[in-house]
Amino acid sequence: MILAIFSAIFMPIDSFFFDPELYVPKYKDFLDVQRNLTKHIFRDYDPTVSPVYTWVDVDLPIGYDNEAPKRYNYTIFLYYLKLVEVQEPQEKISVVMEIMEYWYDARLSWNASAWQNTTMIYMKQDKVWSPTISVFGVNDIVDFRDNDNRLICIENTGFIWDYVSVRVSANCEMDVSRFPFDTQICQIRFCLPIFYRVQVDILNEIYEEIMDERIFKTMGNSEWKLLNLTNRVEALVYNDNMGTMDLAIFEITIRRNPLYYIYMIVFPSFIINFVSIVGVFLNGADKMSRLNVGLTNIMTMTFILGVMADKIPRTGNIPLLGIYIIINLVIMLIAIAIVTAITELRKWASPKLRKKKTALRAQLESFLGRPLEYTSAIILELMTCANFLVMVGFWFEDDS
Ligand SMILES: *[C@@H]1O[C@H](CO)[C@@H](O)[C@H](O)[C@H]1NC(C)=O
Ligand SMILES: *[C@@H]1O[C@H](CO)[C@@H](O)[C@H](O)[C@H]1NC(C)=O
Ligand SMILES: *[C@@H]1O[C@H](CO)[C@@H](O)[C@H](O)[C@H]1NC(C)=O
Ligand SMILES: *[C@@H]1O[C@H](CO)[C@@H](O)[C@H](O)[C@H]1NC(C)=O
Ligand SMILES: *[C@@H]1O[C@H](CO)[C@@H](O)[C@H](O)[C@H]1NC(C)=O
Repeated sequence: MILAIFSAIFMPIDSFFFDPELYVPKYKDFLDVQRNLTKHIFRDYDPTVSPVYTWVDVDLPIGYDNEAPKRYNYTIFLYYLKLVEVQEPQEKISVVMEIMEYWYDARLSWNASAWQNTTMIYMKQDKVWSPTISVFGVNDIVDFRDNDNRLICIENTGFIWDYVSVRVSANCEMDVSRFPFDTQICQIRFCLPIFYRVQVDILNEIYEEIMDERIFKTMGNSEWKLLNLTNRVEALVYNDNMGTMDLAIFEITIRRNPLYYIYMIVFPSFIINFVSIVGVFLNGADKMSRLNVGLTNIMTMTFILGVMADKIPRTGNIPLLGIYIIINLVIMLIAIAIVTAITELRKWASPKLRKKKTALRAQLESFLGRPLEYTSAIILELMTCANFLVMVGFWFEDDS
């Protein structure tokens, strides 16, 4: 056994063909034909020169010359996409894209029946000319492949394809006015730089199978869910025709899972507010400790606002969550104001009410004490509850 391995290692490669166990005659024929074929097609081939047809006048509209070939086309085919992260303060998203690129090179085509029906060859990418994948207006693109490991497939029609796995970090303007129930739309744009639009045509496609619900679920992350994925080609138009460029756009729609913010911010601040109002109006406590409860609550709310501020870009509009906390803050301020004012009010009103003795005035005077506090407490508690319910209501509205 060991001897067999040793002899296999030290035997020249040719011996492969003389071992009747390993040798299938058809295999040797294939290798012979492939060797002659590659020698034939690469005889005069220069991989540094592109096959793009340039006998065109770049100032005239596309297709003005009907003897010229169609525009050179290059397609980006999205095979899979994975959302890696969303950085709201920087308004950036990162996605990993599994892409197949394909294009045609007329110089690398052959008559298959003259070469025993050989229709495809796999080889190293650096031996052929290839358009490099370029993204438009992004922060960062990382190609995970090593330069030495890039492979392509050439078909006899001149059709060439390869496979790229890239991480793209794109800028994406975010609208956080409905935060944490927000939905964002982001674009990743590809282009063919340096060529004129009348010479090249960029196309994009999405693998149909990934539009399936089951696969879609795996493309988001735990905070964001992918809602939609679309593709289109759009021209970036400038006033002068020459600078116009086609952009192949992949657009994703993502929605945030708000549960984290519900249990980290919305629910705790509801409880704190609810309990603090009870504390502020607590029977028997002295005024100072009631004020303390109120002020502590205000500090907590301000702190929670700070936590939220770290998660959103510094834009002009206040997010829903911010409005919710500010309303809670205002409710607490009203509570403090009532508690402070009520004793003063009583001091000021009692002598006036006692001047005349009527039933109404007596009733009014007794109402100015405890009953007024209880009524305000109940109203404020109801406001707190309503605020909470409206906030949670947005969640359910969003789900439907
Ligand atoms: C490959 O080319 C060699 C040399 O030109 C020739 O002798 C041989 O027959 C060719 N083989 C095939 C399978 O075409
Ligand atoms: C792309 O170019 C090839 C070869 O020039 C042509 O056969 C093919 O139809 C073109 N595809 C599109 C979508 O224009
Ligand atoms: C392709 O090769 C076959 C076999 O050599 C030949 O009969 C046929 O005419 C060739 N076709 C073209 C388009 O050259
Ligand atoms: C090539 O394919 C054609 C059609 O399928 C077949 O008739 C022919 O025998 C094949 N030639 C070789 C060398 O396999
Ligand atoms: C995705 O967006 C396209 C284009 O806007 C729309 O036609 C399609 O209905 C959307 N799909 C879903 C699942 O929302």
